[in-house]
Amino acid sequence: MNDRYEIFTRNSVRAYLEKEIPQDVLQRVIETACKSPSWSNTQPVKVHVVTGEKKRRISAKMVEAAKNGEPIHPDIPLPPNESWPEEMLLRMQEHARERSKFVNIKREDKEKRFQFQLKMYEFFDAPVALFFTLHRDLPNWSLLDVGFAMQNVMIAANMEGLGTCPQVSAVYYPDIVREVLGLDETVKIIVGMAIGYPDTNASINQYRAKRRPVDEMVFWHE
Ligand SMILES: Cc1cc2nc3c(=O)[nH]c(=O)nc-3n(C[C@H](O)[C@H](O)[C@H](O)COP(=O)(O)O)c2cc1C
Repeated sequence: MNDRYEIFTRNSVRAYLEKEIPQDVLQRVIETACKSPSWSNTQPVKVHVVTGEKKRRISAKMVEAAKNGEPIHPDIPLPPNESWPEEMLLRMQEHARERSKFVNIKREDKEKRFQFQLKMYEFFDAPVALFFTLHRDLPNWSLLDVGFAMQNVMIAANMEGLGTCPQVSAVYYPDIVREVLGLDETVKIIVGMAIGYPDTNASINQYRAKRRPVDEMVFWHE
């Protein structure tokens, strides 16, 4: 693949430096979410930028819930493995297998896998957590708009030398997010995102998720 576009230098970042993001940088990165396209210009996406004490509280409560064995209940339920077409399931399994090599976790090492999961609830130590939300009455179409907003933020962040990781794991306990951020039941917590300066020395950040060949994805019809 060519590397002409900023897109090709972006990867999910799963370890961050303690360094804060200057407010003006953070602001201009987040504001790119507003420029994303949306169904009939409905602009349904809201982005909650969470730092400091509130971020710590959300993380602490999610870690506690996980340690207590509370079942996860994201607002968009997780599809069971059997429901994925085999092709995608195989890619998912390969991704999990390959990624775990970079944190030195063996498949059977449940404790280490749990510790890695807890890191996700801490946004991999990133200084900023984002939550993308929609009103609960919106149609599936609005999920596309969330994706566009996320991608804008990820690319802009990349251009500022920041790293990001979209995180379904950040919304496993949406009631905690609603409670700490003071959001009511009409707010559907769709997905989270870690954002901060990448720890480039961390082994996990050397992981690159494989892409299938372009001709398995793109079909030209004349
Ligand atoms: C909606 C969504 C949710 C994701 N949730 C997580 C997550 O909870 N934890 C994680 O480590 N990565 C998560 N990812 C990152 C994907 O694993 C990653 O995008 C994929 O493996 C491709 O790798 P890349 O982003 O480095 O190109 C998520 C990505 C998306 C789009």
